[in-house]
Amino acid sequence: MTATVVLGLAWGDEGKGRVCDALATDADYVSRYSGGNNAGHTIRVGEEEFVVHLIPSGIVREGVICTVGNGVVVNPEVLAEEISSLEGRGISVRDRLKIDGRAHLIMPYHIRLDSHREKALGKAKIGTTNRGIGPTYEDKVARVGIRVQDIFDEGILRTKLKAALREKNAIFTNVYDEEPYDPDELADGLLRHGELLEPMVADTGTMLRDALERGEKVLLEGAQATLLDNDFGTYPFVTSSNPSVGGVCVGAGIPPRELDQIIGVTKAYTTRVGDGPFPTELSNEIGDTIREAGHEYGSTTGRPRRCGWLDLVAVKWTARLNGITHLALTLLDVLSAVEEINVCVGYEIDGQRVDVYPMHQTDLHHAKPVYKTLPGWGVDITGCRMRGDLPEAAQDFVGFVEAEIGAPLCMISVGPERDQAIIERIGA
Ligand code: GDP
Ligand code: IMO
Ligand code: MG
Repeated sequence: MTATVVLGLAWGDEGKGRVCDALATDADYVSRYSGGNNAGHTIRVGEEEFVVHLIPSGIVREGVICTVGNGVVVNPEVLAEEISSLEGRGISVRDRLKIDGRAHLIMPYHIRLDSHREKALGKAKIGTTNRGIGPTYEDKVARVGIRVQDIFDEGILRTKLKAALREKNAIFTNVYDEEPYDPDELADGLLRHGELLEPMVADTGTMLRDALERGEKVLLEGAQATLLDNDFGTYPFVTSSNPSVGGVCVGAGIPPRELDQIIGVTKAYTTRVGDGPFPTELSNEIGDTIREAGHEYGSTTGRPRRCGWLDLVAVKWTARLNGITHLALTLLDVLSAVEEINVCVGYEIDGQRVDVYPMHQTDLHHAKPVYKTLPGWGVDITGCRMRGDLPEAAQDFVGFVEAEIGAPLCMISVGPERDQAIIERIGA
């Protein structure tokens, strides 16, 4: 019985995909539990790069079964494209992928609403990925969502779509002066995906619980990250699901007592794509240097990522919130490009020194970082495979972060390639 969770400790893109890929060598199942194709998880295998949005990263490892849990929102078009693109690259997908019948479907009207809402917010926009994520989760909670299983009951599908569109079509026609959606046309579109999906639809929670009972290894792949969590993140600049550890149980159907390793992933610095507070953001040349050295452009939308120093106030808080058992520190090599490294160890909020991550949104907006400066190392570290191979300054940086966060490191990544990593204590 081993369930291991991999989740992000900041605002996403921490390298969860590559950490999962490393752990998947030893996994029987890799499962997504939240979010949808707002995620973009990159895995580099030699010269080949795979970016998966909906299908778990484990798909790149032969023999691993991948599940898309009930807590995920599924755009069937994107799913079909992702399957065909991976299969076109020689990866077997349909025999190893299972999609939960309880997962909700992202419909074209969700995407359109997402974009209207953002426009209406103007300068206060969230900066969503415009994939329809928020409106789909809203419908789930409002009990007017369409689920994967509805595709297999045409009568129910048509009835539910009519009900779902009653209010929405009024919004499209009256508020946005647009054509209404025809529920039957949408139903026909969904029914066309039935043949592809049918063999893959499963009760994935039961599958995973059975697997755990048999002593098999299950890896839960987080998407988005804790500071984007709808409850704990920088609300309202968040996503609409719970990427933090609690989301695993409801989104994958696994009881809490089964979770025995929780790996929190953080970059050696911080990035954020989308709007919202970011106390350690560097709107200067150092930020640009980090962006270029780390190729910090969104894997889903291509947007330049905002870059800043590692914020230990935030990460210590998210590490504790998730009860992490291990830490994975990624993109350490990117800091070879800077002379000195700052790490945020406190905030100054309205003249007061604060060491605890604030609950109040206004405090976070006013927070000015208090930094500890550490020397850089300025040399290529991409060839290091043991902690002892790292230059002393890099070892000091890593040791400092590990001690501050208070969880043992299981992995340090020093380059995007699969083997460019220092692996410690995985499975311990
Ligand atoms: P995820 O969403 O958390 O899976 O992360 P993304 O894939 O969106 O973003 C991480 C980016 O960093 C990708 O482009 C990876 O190829 C790259 N990457 C991951 N680990 C490393 C590393 O150790 N060094 C460098 N330079 N790039 C890395
Ligand atoms: P991975 O899994 C980074 C951000 C968006 C926006 C906010 C809400 O690759 O780490 P949404 O479309 O979810 O309603 O957007 O969340 N966001 C991400 N940022 N990585 C992601 O996923 C993200 N998924 C959503 O940029 O700020
Ligand atoms: Mg990403």
